[in-house]
Amino acid sequence: MRSIMNITEELRKIVGGRLSVSPSELYCYSSDASQVKGMPDYVVRPESTDEVSRILRLAYENEIPVTARGAGTGLAGGAVPVSGGIVLDMSGMNRILEIDIDNIQVVVEPGMIQDALNDALKPYGFFFPPNPGSSAMCTIGGMIAYNASGMRCVKYGTTRNYVRDLEVVLADGTVIHTGSKMLKSAAGYDLTQLIIGSEGTLGIVTKASLKIAPLPKTRKLVIASFKSAEVAGQAVVKTFSNGVIPSACEILDRVSLQVLKRYDPKLVLPSEGDVILFEVDGTENSAREAAEQIIEVCSPLTLSIKLAESEKEMADIWAARKLVGAAVSRLDPTKTRIYVGEDVGVPIKKIPELLRRAQEISEKFNLPAMKYGHIGDGNLHLALFIDVLNEDEWDRLNRAADLVHRTAIELGGTVSSEHGVGAARAEYMEAQWGPAIEVMRAIKKALDPKGILNPGKLGL
Ligand code: LAC
Ligand code: ZN
Repeated sequence: MRSIMNITEELRKIVGGRLSVSPSELYCYSSDASQVKGMPDYVVRPESTDEVSRILRLAYENEIPVTARGAGTGLAGGAVPVSGGIVLDMSGMNRILEIDIDNIQVVVEPGMIQDALNDALKPYGFFFPPNPGSSAMCTIGGMIAYNASGMRCVKYGTTRNYVRDLEVVLADGTVIHTGSKMLKSAAGYDLTQLIIGSEGTLGIVTKASLKIAPLPKTRKLVIASFKSAEVAGQAVVKTFSNGVIPSACEILDRVSLQVLKRYDPKLVLPSEGDVILFEVDGTENSAREAAEQIIEVCSPLTLSIKLAESEKEMADIWAARKLVGAAVSRLDPTKTRIYVGEDVGVPIKKIPELLRRAQEISEKFNLPAMKYGHIGDGNLHLALFIDVLNEDEWDRLNRAADLVHRTAIELGGTVSSEHGVGAARAEYMEAQWGPAIEVMRAIKKALDPKGILNPGKLGL
């Protein structure tokens, strides 16, 4: 083992001045958007695959933990170095390397920002569909690490469905490719899918080839309100079972509506009930037909249902929806929304039950809650908010979150649909996976025998 001084010198030989060791700079990398905290010993900002490979070789030889970080928007502590060591700040590797329209794909570095990628693709008439709430900030590398998704995967799928090839640096510095530009392959294990969602525990992504999709010609938005969130959930199930697949299907319960109205009083939203936003896309005719079908199928269950009247009305509602998680403090400035138990998911048929039980949990623990999220995927963001100076509220919050996670598992669902496991949900992996967690542990051991890659995550 070399001393800290020697490691600092070795890292400096690789990245020069793109290294931080001062406590004030290290502190900036000690958290993400979750409650998880952990100080790194070094932060390095690599600019090439070769630099990442050399850093990992050094870390491997000296058994130093390595945690990759994109924009730090994660909600489960995935990018937080809970065992110290090196943080690899990948945000500087943010170039588009190739826009290859003939192969309907792009090649990007992992620090590329999601919205910036879509801005670059727009002139070609294409887009990269996964669309998390944090798309203005989050990186493609982070999206791959957590299989991020967001609003449009109900029709278009998650990040997982768009990755053709990854360049990955393994724990000992070896560089591999997991796929190719081919549309399909029947040769060998699918390492691309293994790396996606592995939260930096198996390797570090340094390049990604991504499938892209043609931009739809038209989008339309159906806004429906219901007497309860549970009935809203029933309408979602009914829509799918009638063969309509919207391009987005979001729930905004009555508390979310109040938040949005305080955030932007000009928004055209229903005055009562719990709301589902159904977006449909396609040609003018196919989108209109799908919207009409949703109105017909849902009408018997609704308090009100209508089509957004203009592109602007639609754009304003989506922009506000993206900010609802942050805007919740407008409701009660003495309370803070804490991201725990906030990302569970269940099979479509169980959506109404999940909505009902989430409401019961908030009442049982006497905690105000906002329910929103990608309900067409069975994915609910339960936003519980508390006075952070009140220990009793913290205790009730943690017990409520625990029950939310266990309820999702009981309903055949998942403790995280899109935000990941990180350190925040690691304790639930055995309950969710049973003996399959041992298979994950064996894979981890084979690829990272010294356990240096993002230790303390995924319940491994
Ligand atoms: C959203 C984040 C919380 O959907 O996933 O806004
Ligand atoms: Zn979300």
